[in-house]
Amino acid sequence: MKIMEKLQREVFEQFERYGQMQVFRFWDILNSDERLSLCRQAGRIDLTRFSEIVRSFLDKEKSSLIDPKVPILPASYIALPSDETSHCRWEDAYNLGEQILHEGRIAVFTAAGGQGTRLNFEGPKGTFAVTPIKGKSLFQVFAEKIRFAEKRYGHPIHWFIMTSDRNHNETIEFFGKNNSFALANVYFIRQGQLPAIDMQGKIMLEDKYRIAMHPNGHGGAFKAFVAGGGSAILEAEGINMISYFQVDNPLVRVLDPHFIGFHEKNNSQMSSRMVWKHYPEERMGVFCSIYGRSAVIEYTDLPAAYATECDRNGTLRFRAGNTGIHIFNSDFFRLLGNETSGRHLPLHVAKKKIPTIDEDGKIIDPEISNGIKFEAFIFDALQFAERSIIVEGNRREIFTPIKNAIGLDSPETCRQDQVRLFSKWLVQAGSDIPLDATGCPPFNIEISPLFADNERDFLIKWNQMEQPPPIAPGSYIGP
Ligand code: UTP
Repeated sequence: MKIMEKLQREVFEQFERYGQMQVFRFWDILNSDERLSLCRQAGRIDLTRFSEIVRSFLDKEKSSLIDPKVPILPASYIALPSDETSHCRWEDAYNLGEQILHEGRIAVFTAAGGQGTRLNFEGPKGTFAVTPIKGKSLFQVFAEKIRFAEKRYGHPIHWFIMTSDRNHNETIEFFGKNNSFALANVYFIRQGQLPAIDMQGKIMLEDKYRIAMHPNGHGGAFKAFVAGGGSAILEAEGINMISYFQVDNPLVRVLDPHFIGFHEKNNSQMSSRMVWKHYPEERMGVFCSIYGRSAVIEYTDLPAAYATECDRNGTLRFRAGNTGIHIFNSDFFRLLGNETSGRHLPLHVAKKKIPTIDEDGKIIDPEISNGIKFEAFIFDALQFAERSIIVEGNRREIFTPIKNAIGLDSPETCRQDQVRLFSKWLVQAGSDIPLDATGCPPFNIEISPLFADNERDFLIKWNQMEQPPPIAPGSYIGP
């Protein structure tokens, strides 16, 4: 009882000081368990820091972090090879990347803590069935890519998966049910949360005794990693690089020798993968250069004049689309995750529909935005990197995120992109497959990452087969 009283006093004092006592407005009708739960939840919020964030939001009342007076230029990047010299550079990078993989100096990190609201799927997005024939989940696809790499490079690979309070237990259960897809070194790291506020800056409730909290954005990766013991594991294993990607993209090259090699060769702290934006209005952040440093500007923040600007060849000047694929040096990752390093990522604000309760405690499911969420974005780490590079990737080969239930970036476009890519490899290997103008066959096929997860390895393996199987609708190539 004494402990509860002490906790209540401390929390009330804090919330009183920062004008957030509305959080306890149902206190008198809560039972003792509910009071304890609310106090604990409230006590975990760093209200001093959060209040600064709220104040600066209310002062500026703007969602953009971009100052219109700052000159923005397109970021330079290492383009895909186009002539003999660049082919040689890419080949050198590949060999270096392979060497690092053989030395076991790189771990994998997947950001999977998002809420996946647009997909409208119950459960963690990583459990979503994504492949065209077998319906493998996103997590299984990545797991198989990692197993392929483990076998090829002869090293166990450490895989860190960032979850959030909303999907942590379900994610662990899913891996448990699937025996971690035969991987031995999978770690689940829970990211932090932030409270949602209403338009007046007041922290919202989702229930009489629960504050409306949400995951703090993929930029929460750094702090979650350090707090979750990730750095200690890397140090103990002599790993100094992290291959980072987001859970919604089954085509990602989980461990790409070219990309790893370029990262190492340039002594980069943070490397990023770009693909060409399809059209100016595409909802994709772009890599820019601001005062000589690379940055990503979200599509909502890039002025239309820039977004539509073309160069002499008629191609978009700001075309370097952000894929959310990076390689980090583990020291840099650790530095950003260190609470006392003074390197805090900025928080982006988004007006959202936030389920809450009214003055009588009745649940409201709003139809229009009624509150603000704050999120840190991984790419903002670029501002702290003294050395960073951007490397082009072939969009059709590495990027098909699932964001929406239908339309663009949906399970259907993702299926088509996978089938298109598998067909391309098979056609390169000499198979006769009917393709439409977009390179898509009129049927599904699937190639397991356990067979090969990229064209180069696929062709080697396929050509080694004594009798490659005939390709027909529904063909699955895998062990
Ligand atoms: P998105 O910005 O697409 O968000 O995240 P989302 O939560 O998946 O989907 P919506 O916006 O609610 O529809 C891009 C990637 O970053 C991860 C997601 O899991 C996804 O892999 N992410 C996002 C986190 O890990 N944590 C977060 O707090 C937010």
